[in-house]
Amino acid sequence: MGSQWGKDKYYSKSKSEGYRSRAAYKLLDIQKRFNIIREDDNVIDLGAAPGSWMQVLRDITSGCIVGVDLNPVAPLEDTIMITGDFTSEKIQERIISTIHEVNVIVCDASPKFSGNKTYDQARAIGLNEDAFGFVLKVLKPGGNFVIKSFQGEMFTELLEDIRNSFYSVKVYRTKASRRGSTETYIIAKNFRGNHAASD
Ligand SMILES: C[S@@+](CC[C@H](N)C(=O)[O-])C[C@H]1O[C@@H](n2cnc3c(N)ncnc32)[C@H](O)[C@@H]1O
Repeated sequence: MGSQWGKDKYYSKSKSEGYRSRAAYKLLDIQKRFNIIREDDNVIDLGAAPGSWMQVLRDITSGCIVGVDLNPVAPLEDTIMITGDFTSEKIQERIISTIHEVNVIVCDASPKFSGNKTYDQARAIGLNEDAFGFVLKVLKPGGNFVIKSFQGEMFTELLEDIRNSFYSVKVYRTKASRRGSTETYIIAKNFRGNHAASD
């Protein structure tokens, strides 16, 4: 992941600490700062490969953890992996039949970037909107949601939609995010419940 950026201190740290990717430090940073996952929460991880957020989640909660990715994820003890596109109805139904009482949804998914900034931004925000649509369907009232997004066109609109559905919403750039990247995380806490979707 992120080979165009080269290897940095988080890459080396992930190797020595046994994480599957440097992305682990982004979730660790978010958890330390915002305390989004409690020790018995059930969690869905959208865009989970290669699985470092799943490793972090496994260390935090004893609840059910379901990861979904287009690419297969190597098995990780006490977690469930689903291979497929989380924007498809069929995969969403599979997720819903696998996990109940969803307390937290995290989404680190990003589309494959083409290099065309306008096109890539539109795709990234489109994927964010799909993830958010799924959240509205399955997250328990009071639940938390973390999603990776990218500053640029349509970001403000996405943020506004999320703000309307959660009592607390913050924008946060993790310490482990690459310098120069527009990547940013939206930390949404305390879901109002899916009635907000039709407000
Ligand atoms: C940055 S990686 C996630 C890294 C992960 N958080 C970790 O710590 O290992 C982004 C992932 O999003 C996945 N992805 C993108 N679009 C997806 C979709 N529609 N459905 C499922 N996974 C998707 C990609 O396949 C990729 O593996």
